[in-house]
Formats: sequence, C-alpha cells, structure tokens
Amino acid sequence: MGRIALAAKITHVPSLLLSERPGPLHGLRNDAIASLKEIGRRANQRGVDTFLVFDTHWLSNFGFHLNANARHKGVYTSHEAPHMIQNLTYDLPGNPELAEAIAAEAQKSGVPVLAHRVPTLALEYGTIVPMHYMNADGGKAVVAAAAPLFASVDENRRFGDAARRAIEASDATVAVLASGSLSHKLVNNESVGDAQWSVVSSEFNRQMDLRVLELWGSRRYDEFVRMLPEYCTKCSGEGLMADTAMLFGLLGWNQYAGEAEQLCEYFPSSGSGQVTVEFHVAN
Ligand SMILES: [Fe+2]
Repeated sequence: MGRIALAAKITHVPSLLLSERPGPLHGLRNDAIASLKEIGRRANQRGVDTFLVFDTHWLSNFGFHLNANARHKGVYTSHEAPHMIQNLTYDLPGNPELAEAIAAEAQKSGVPVLAHRVPTLALEYGTIVPMHYMNADGGKAVVAAAAPLFASVDENRRFGDAARRAIEASDATVAVLASGSLSHKLVNNESVGDAQWSVVSSEFNRQMDLRVLELWGSRRYDEFVRMLPEYCTKCSGEGLMADTAMLFGLLGWNQYAGEAEQLCEYFPSSGSGQVTVEFHVAN
C-alpha cells in the first residue's frame, strides 16, 4: 500500500535563488532555503519516491490537470520574472501511474481531472524551484498539479481528498507539497526595488497570515478551513490558495489534528507573506 510520508506548505519565491548570488540579497533567504533542504532531507529519510506538488504557478483556466510525463526535462526561464529565474535546468523522473490514478480517483468523486502525457508540457517554477533544493540529484519522481483559477474551495478540497485515496491505493511513498504563498498582494510596480524584499504590502494581510500561523500552531484547523474561503480572496491568495485547499483536503480538512511544524521564520517577499510548515501525518 502507498502512503503519504510527508505533507508541507512551502515557499518557492525567486528571491531564494537571488539570495544565492553575489549582490545585495546574498544570504537573505538562507533560513527559507534551509527549510526546503530540510524537507528534502526528511523525504529522503522517510523513503519518499515521489513528490506531488500543488503548483500555484501552473494556473489553469479550465478544470484540473496533472503533469503525468514520464520525464520532466528542460531549461527554465520565468516569463513572469526573467531577471530572477533564468536558465534553471531540471531533469526529473515523473510518475505517470500515480498521476493517472489520482485523475481516475478524482473522476469517481465528480471532480474532472486530466492527466497529461505530453512531452512539451513543462513544469512551472512552483515545482522547479523547490525541486532545485529538495531533489537536486533528480532521484525522486515528480507529479505536478495545476491550480484551477475558477474552481471552488470545495472542489479543491475534494481533489486533495481524492489524491490521498489514490496515493493510499498505489505503491508509492509520497511527499505532498502545497507550493504557494500565504497572503499574496504583490508590490506595485513603482515600489519595485530594494524595499520589495522586506515588507508585506498590506498590514491587514500580514496580521491575517500571523493569525493563520497561530491557528495552525495550536491545531485549530476547523477554524482555519472555515476562514479559508474568505482568506484566499481577501488576502489575494496565490492561485486563490488552491494549493492550501488541496493540501487540507488531502489531510482530512477539519478532521486533521496533526502537528504543524514551522520550519522557517515567516518572511515577506515582493509584498507577499511566505513560510514553510510541515503538517505531520501519522505513519
Ligand atoms: Fe509564487
């Protein structure tokens, strides 16, 4: 039987990469980079063979999609921020069987999901950046899931729930990553510059993010999932926080009772609020 060995909400911001280069940001994201490497270390330690990534940079206009390619290989330059992510190479195995099993399981519960084996369907940076730190040797398979822009929170919950059932019925040992921000009101263009790295663009958003971390830290998940439909819209959720709704759907929604372990300090990046948190699951 398959199992979920690790589940986490993670950051993927381009400033992680910038902080590795010489310059004014050098070292700024060491804490967050360490959190991603720690997730990779834990995945290794627990025998994970596949990362399932709910990727808020793969935005779908029409329904749910999985990248079921047998191999993900390319050189990535971000069209959103080409000066920040440039010529990042990746070469990672896929897990077509798991992707197709998730799609089939979701279909059974009325969530239409397509799993694609299309070699020109590339990964996006919500997957590529974390894999750069967690799966640098390409030893583990990757399945990416798109964030459907016009799906309801409940559809995303049901997708996550179906993903759990499919994983449990598979022979895979999986780390599931919700790759996306907390609040995500990016800085105005006029504010782009040195200051963009150090301030959450809305104090309201920052306070809501901190409250969410408090709720998670005290395992008040029932309250969190009840606020999620408003949190994801009022705090400008990245991909409307589809990743988070999927992750909590997978964990059991308001029935989840595990420990939330924060692996780096909450930090601002380009106006958004960022963090890495592992949600512990019983194994
Ligand atoms: Fe992002």
